[in-house]
Amino acid sequence: MELSQVPSDRIIIVGAGIIGLGIGWRLARAGRDVLIFDRDRAGQAASHASAGMLTPLAEVRHEEEALLKLGLKSLERFPEFVGQLESESGLSVGYRPDGVLLVGVTRDDIEYLSFRYDYQRDLGLPVEWLSGTQAREREPQLSPRVGAAVWCPGDQQVDNRLLVKALREAFLKAGGSLVESTPVEAIDVAHERIRGIVAGDKSYRAATIILAAGCWSCLIPGLPGPAMPPVRPVRGQILRLQMTEDCTLKTIVWYNRAASSAVAYLCPKDGGHLVLGATSEEMGFDDSLTAGGIFELLRAAWEVVPGIYDLPIIETAAGLRPGSRDDAPILGKTPIHGLIMATGHYRKGILLAPVTADAIAELVLTGNTHEDIRPFGIDRFAA
Ligand code: GLY
Repeated sequence: MELSQVPSDRIIIVGAGIIGLGIGWRLARAGRDVLIFDRDRAGQAASHASAGMLTPLAEVRHEEEALLKLGLKSLERFPEFVGQLESESGLSVGYRPDGVLLVGVTRDDIEYLSFRYDYQRDLGLPVEWLSGTQAREREPQLSPRVGAAVWCPGDQQVDNRLLVKALREAFLKAGGSLVESTPVEAIDVAHERIRGIVAGDKSYRAATIILAAGCWSCLIPGLPGPAMPPVRPVRGQILRLQMTEDCTLKTIVWYNRAASSAVAYLCPKDGGHLVLGATSEEMGFDDSLTAGGIFELLRAAWEVVPGIYDLPIIETAAGLRPGSRDDAPILGKTPIHGLIMATGHYRKGILLAPVTADAIAELVLTGNTHEDIRPFGIDRFAA
């Protein structure tokens, strides 16, 4: 097949979600020739259905210390990342260093909360145990049934949709090119080296390809086995409610309802939307909304913030998170020369956008794999 006459030092990014756009922006502003392809419109998949939580403290899980470290690094970079992005795009991204209240109602919930709190303390994280009354002083909308809470003041949030918009704008302003609604049909590999891609029946030559296509990263033909990222879709259903004067939250409220294992988080956004998420369902590529999913979310949220009962529903949505085999991202070089992974960010795509963008840009520009991303190479799945 004839390759189109484009410079061979061009960088192609597959996927224009928050990860692909973030990397593309960093590389384009460093003067590189970057072309991003997306099967849909930029940022309309998992990045759109997210709640924009930047919550490594609240959401830490056992045996994920390396991921916690990466999350904290990324969180630390957010103010600078946002500052630069807002100034270069001319758009605000609704960044809010609000903190998170993890809450419990039943004895089971509070046992779980206390187990999580002990772990957070063992890790040296700055968290505080609150009684129900203390929690309501912080967030008066909480139900009188909330019996205890853990306050995570270091956690933050951003408006994920505004972030995507600003990244798209900044990327284009920095000279990057974006091809939307054009799935990549194949990655062209010869002698364990990248040659380019095929998209929209055309071939594009590139010396570097960055695979950032979320849960679709494993479906692109042409990759040999050891370079195929083991990612799967994990469905998240989400709602947007309109807060009113009678029911406005100040901080993110996060509830793990032990009785049904449902997790509900309520994220108040500038402008008055309350994002309420999210289910975690292994349903393959089915991104339907279900009555059961929405019911579980609403029941859990209503138990801890009863005032949501009267709030208008603005939107329901579902997205597919890219979960890897160990639920951590897949970042860095692959056995194919010129092919770089930036996928599998699962529940943390928004949080990990700055650290991913910086480390992958550094890898492309200097060949150096930053220590931040070394534990997350695709080679960990080789065995
Ligand atoms: N970051 C939360 C979620 O994916 O549900």
